[in-house]
Amino acid sequence: MSDIRRLEPGDEAALSEFLAALPPGDLTFIKEEVGEPGLAAAWVADGRAVRGIAVEDGRVLGMAALIPGVGWSAHVGELRLVVHPAHRRRRLGSALARWALLRAAERGLRKLTVEIVAEQEAAEALFRNLGFQPEALLVGQIRDREGEFRDLLLLAHHLDGNWSGMATLGLGGD
Ligand SMILES: CC(C)(COP(=O)(O)OP(=O)(O)OC[C@H]1O[C@@H](n2cnc3c(N)ncnc32)[C@H](O)[C@@H]1OP(=O)(O)O)[C@@H](O)C(=O)NCCC(=O)NCCS
Repeated sequence: MSDIRRLEPGDEAALSEFLAALPPGDLTFIKEEVGEPGLAAAWVADGRAVRGIAVEDGRVLGMAALIPGVGWSAHVGELRLVVHPAHRRRRLGSALARWALLRAAERGLRKLTVEIVAEQEAAEALFRNLGFQPEALLVGQIRDREGEFRDLLLLAHHLDGNWSGMATLGLGGD
C-alpha cells in the first residue's frame, strides 16, 4: 500500500531513481527537463512549489507538483503529475492529483491548471474525473524530443465554493 506525503530532505536518492526509471517516450508528456543533473536535489530544496510523492517500501512511485503562480496569477496553481510506468492504473495518479488539489485549497488558491499534450487521452480522462475541464488549446505549443510540434491542452479546476465538491472526491484529509 503506498503512502502519499510531502517530498522532504532525505528523498533525493529515491526521487532520482524514480526519475531515471521514466522511459524516453514518456518524457514527451512531461514539461520538466527530467534529464538534468541535480534535478531531484533542486526539487527537494525548492521552497516555492509543493511536491507530493507516492512512496511504497521506500521507493518513489509517483510525484505531483503544485507550482503557485505569481503576480496577477498568484491565485492560480499549476499541477504536474507523473507516475512510475510499472505502477500505472493503480489510481496513484488520481490520488496524487487529489493530494495536490487539497494542498491548493489549503493555500487559498482559486484555480488549478494542468497542461497536457492534446491527444493524451489517459491524462485527460484522469483529470476530467477529478472535475478539470478543458479551457484552452494552444496549437504547436510543444516541440517534442523528436522535434515534432504538438498541441497543448490546458485543463482547469476552479476551487471557489468547491469544498463540497472536494468532499465528494474524498478529499477530507491528508
Ligand atoms: C497520466 C498518468 C499520471 C496517470 O497515472 P495513473 O496512476 O496510471 O492513473 P490512475 O490509475 O489514477 O488512472 C485514473 C483514470 O485515468 C484514466 N487512465 C489512466 N491511464 C489510462 C490509460 N493508459 N488509458 C486509458 N485511460 C487511462 C482511466 O479513466 C483511469 O481510471 P480506471 O483505471 O478506473 O479506468 C500516467 O500515465 C503518467 O505518469 N503519464 C506520463 C506523465 C503525464 O502524462 N502526466 C500528465 C501531465 S502533467
